[in-house]
Formats: sequence, C-alpha cells, structure tokens
Amino acid sequence: MIRWKEGSVSVDQNRAIRMMIPGPVEVHPDVLKAMGSPVEPHYGDAWVKKNQQVLTYLKEVFRTEGDVYLLVGSGTSAIDAAVGSCLQTGERILIGNNGYFGDRLVSIAQHNGLDVVEVKAEWGQELDPQAIRKTLQKDPSIKAVAVVHGETSTTILNPIQDIGPIVRENGALFIVDAVSSLGGVPLEMDTWCIDACASATQKCLGAPPGLGPIALNERAWKSIDRLKIGEHGWYTDLRVWRKYAQEWGDWHPSPITMATNNVNALLVSLTHLKKEGIPARMERYRRLAIQLREGLRQAGFTPFTADEKLNPVLTAAYAPQGIESGEIVQYLMKEYAIQISGGLGILKSTIFRIGHMSPMVTQEDIVYLCDALQKFQK
Ligand SMILES: Cc1ncc(COP(=O)(O)O)c(C=O)c1O
Repeated sequence: MIRWKEGSVSVDQNRAIRMMIPGPVEVHPDVLKAMGSPVEPHYGDAWVKKNQQVLTYLKEVFRTEGDVYLLVGSGTSAIDAAVGSCLQTGERILIGNNGYFGDRLVSIAQHNGLDVVEVKAEWGQELDPQAIRKTLQKDPSIKAVAVVHGETSTTILNPIQDIGPIVRENGALFIVDAVSSLGGVPLEMDTWCIDACASATQKCLGAPPGLGPIALNERAWKSIDRLKIGEHGWYTDLRVWRKYAQEWGDWHPSPITMATNNVNALLVSLTHLKKEGIPARMERYRRLAIQLREGLRQAGFTPFTADEKLNPVLTAAYAPQGIESGEIVQYLMKEYAIQISGGLGILKSTIFRIGHMSPMVTQEDIVYLCDALQKFQK
C-alpha cells in the first residue's frame, strides 16, 4: 500500500480541477466522449440492445435478481418513485434518520402523504438496528422502513445488512437510498433483504448526473400493485415503467424519451467498472480512504469518524478550532485547484468532506491533497 508522505506531486495539466466533492464526480474521458456522441433515438433494435446491457450491468452492481429501471432525473427522482410507488397515502413508514439525507427521506415521505415515524441517531452515529426492531414490534401498522445507506452529510454507513433482516422478519418493506454508495461500497440488495433500492449515476457509478437507477423485487411489486391509480401521479409510478418495459420492451423500453447520451455515458462507466471488477474497485477506494485518513492526521487534521467507521468513498475531517471549514475549501480551490466540500446542515462549518468516489481519483491525488492541507496555515 502506498502511504501518504510529505513531498510535492506535479499537477496534471490536463485536469484543470481535481474534483473531490461527494458527487457529482470527475468522469473518465471515455465517459465524456460517450456523453458527447451524436444524439440517437430511444427506440429501435440497437437501442434496445444497449439499454438491456446497461440494465444487466446495473443488476450486477445492485446484486439483485429483481428488476432495474433507469429514471431520467437525479437520485431524488428514484427515491421519490420508490417511496411513492410502494405506499399509499396515510400509510405509516419508519424512517431511520441520522443526517441531512435522512431528513430528506422524511420530507419525501411527507410529500407523498405518508405518516412518518422516525428512529433517530445523532449525526455522526450509525442507526441502531435494535431501535428499529423495537419500533416495528410495537407498531405493526408500519408498512415500510426507509434508510439512507451512505449518509453523505456525515460519511456514516448505516448497517443495512443488519436492518434488512429485521425489517423482513417484521413483515415490512425495506427501501434504501444508495445514492452515494452504489458501485463504491459493498451492498447486497437480495442478501440484505432490500426490497427497493434507489441510486444516482453521478457518484460511485462514475457518470454524469441525470439518471436515477432503481431496483425492485417481488415484495416491492406486491406492495406497488395494491395502490389505486391516482395515488401519486404518473412519472414516478413504477407500474408505468414496468408496463412499457413489458409491452414495448422489444422496441421502445421506456415510457418517456430516454436521455440516450446519459445512458451511453453510463454504459461506458459500467463497462470500466466491470473490467476493473466490482470488488477490486471497492478495494481500491477503501485503500484511498485509509491513505487519506493517514494523510489527514499527518497534516494535523482529525477525521470526523473513527477508523472503524471508514467509508471507502467519502471522508470528513474537523476544521481546526477557530476556523470555518469553508476557509479550507476555498484555500484548496484557490491555491491548488482541488475542489472539496464543506459540511451540510448542523455540520456546515465544522467539517469538510472529501469525496473519493470517482474512478478518476488516484493515490497521487490523495498525496497532492494532503500535501496542500499540510501547508494550510492554521
Ligand atoms: C445519500 C443521498 N441521498 C440523496 C441525494 C440526492 O440525490 P440527487 O441530488 O441526485 O437528487 C444525495 C445527493 O447528494 C445523497 O448523497
């Protein structure tokens, strides 16, 4: 393993900015090329084949035998579709909330007319599966549980693998926001008892923003098929997407004009992921995370979470006392053309966040960043 050490590393002049925010990410030049390829129709034999290839690759990334759809929209469109399609107005949903995107899940459920029960944990702490079990056992009217996997605001990875079987035992549906984890952090949709899983293309999948992949199993469909038409609109009703896939799948597999350039770009990034190997890619990120933690410490910064809570694709550190994290963000951008992020919500000025969820981020980038941080005048 290459360890961080002090010393300067030359800037690659071809990369104007080293983008190390928690998404969107810097994408590979081949992915950009596909994005800039001539616009093509979203129907016909060639398109059907390409679309199918993307869905097959995504199933491998989600680790599911279920169905996968690609919504045109950001990750939120896929989460909205999952929450809104699976439950009808007035039904109760338990939301595990320990960060900004947990709050977002609550809001999405409320906007879909659901009755929200929250099980909270402090920002920076994992959700407690036993607290979720207790709430489910006390209240059998809870129809579903929704949880964020990688809580991007704090870098915490929630223990989805422990929560899933508890949700299943209690007969509820399990919906997971994997927007900032799919493709970069181990996630086993079928084995971990996830019924509906939503993500986005602009993070660990290494493609531009614009598509929201969503995967569903039979339990999810059973719940979806109970709903009256007219519950939550058309675009995010997943039955509409299934109908087109089933009835028009051999020539026009989506109900809308698909964002073909985005799909072409995603196909290239998924092909790269397949070539590298999903476990190899995840291990590469994990090593970057270890290297970064070490570099941060050597540069005099304290990681926001303990090493046991390592997130392979995202790392946060405390700003030194008396300094707002925004100053560090500005310094890195101005002096080194490295783009990182400050905190979100209650952690806005307290921490800064460094994304290493792009296949483009290298060990050299981590060294360069830590070198820059070392020179920051505290
Ligand atoms: C965990 C998580 N959920 C949801 C979202 C929202 O995704 P989008 O901006 O693609 O709609 C984000 C975006 O950063 C996220 O990190």
